[in-house]
Amino acid sequence: MNENIEKIIERFNHIHPTPMALNRLSQLLVSEDATLKDVEDVIKVDPLLVARILGVVNSAYYSPLQKIDSLGRAVAYLGMRNLHILVITDTLKALSSLGGKRPNELRLRIWRHSAAVSIAAKMIAERVFGVNGDNAYLAGILHDFGQIVEEQLEHDTFAAIVTQANTPEELVALEQRRFGLDHCQIGAELCRQWMISPAVTAAILGHHQMEAVAPDSFDGILRLAEYLTGRDNDQGGRPHVSLNADLLAHVEGNRDEYAVLMDDFPAEMQKADELYGARAA
Ligand SMILES: [Fe+2]
Ligand SMILES: [Fe+2]
Repeated sequence: MNENIEKIIERFNHIHPTPMALNRLSQLLVSEDATLKDVEDVIKVDPLLVARILGVVNSAYYSPLQKIDSLGRAVAYLGMRNLHILVITDTLKALSSLGGKRPNELRLRIWRHSAAVSIAAKMIAERVFGVNGDNAYLAGILHDFGQIVEEQLEHDTFAAIVTQANTPEELVALEQRRFGLDHCQIGAELCRQWMISPAVTAAILGHHQMEAVAPDSFDGILRLAEYLTGRDNDQGGRPHVSLNADLLAHVEGNRDEYAVLMDDFPAEMQKADELYGARAA
């Protein structure tokens, strides 16, 4: 591992230790004989986390048929993988320190962007490609988290390079010049620590490279989600990312499907509002 990344994550963990529950949950997820009871035992020692899980599992995003009023039922309802995803989202939200009277605008903007990309990625996976969207969602919520890490550790430098960069590719080049690493590498390292699938990790690492990717790969879905959600109002409605020719041809070829998807997008975002905490649309 690049020593710089190790150091920056160590500095970040020093300010914001990863919650014990997430570390233990990540380990359980890869151990073959872990049971839902083990998962419940890990989570129940943190009553605030239990309360947040019960809040989210009863929200419009999951919309269970009956109210879920105990951790045991929530764990059974969600299953281990969904619970891992929920705890990762909860952790990222906490690590972003979005609360307070005067929220940090830059950080809030990155978080909202990540929330939008995660919902769009899940929708693309499920609707366009007919596959489970959980990993696409994870790729979306984590892909730019490295920017939040940089912003918290080196606010002034990071804010300056964000202003200076005209495109995401320029931002990555400036991050490399100033920090010797970029947000894609930080995000990928967090994925490795949290035992997230290698395919998602690779998609995050490569999300600003322009080489050809299959539209239905995680790399493809992540870039499509960034493209569709990324009309940045601060930049006069310019797309946040540019797409390579293959992905553009795919969007053109499925124009109607993507138009319907984007029509439905605001309602899906609204459903997920409770999951993300900060107004995410
Ligand atoms: Fe990015
Ligand atoms: Fe992004």
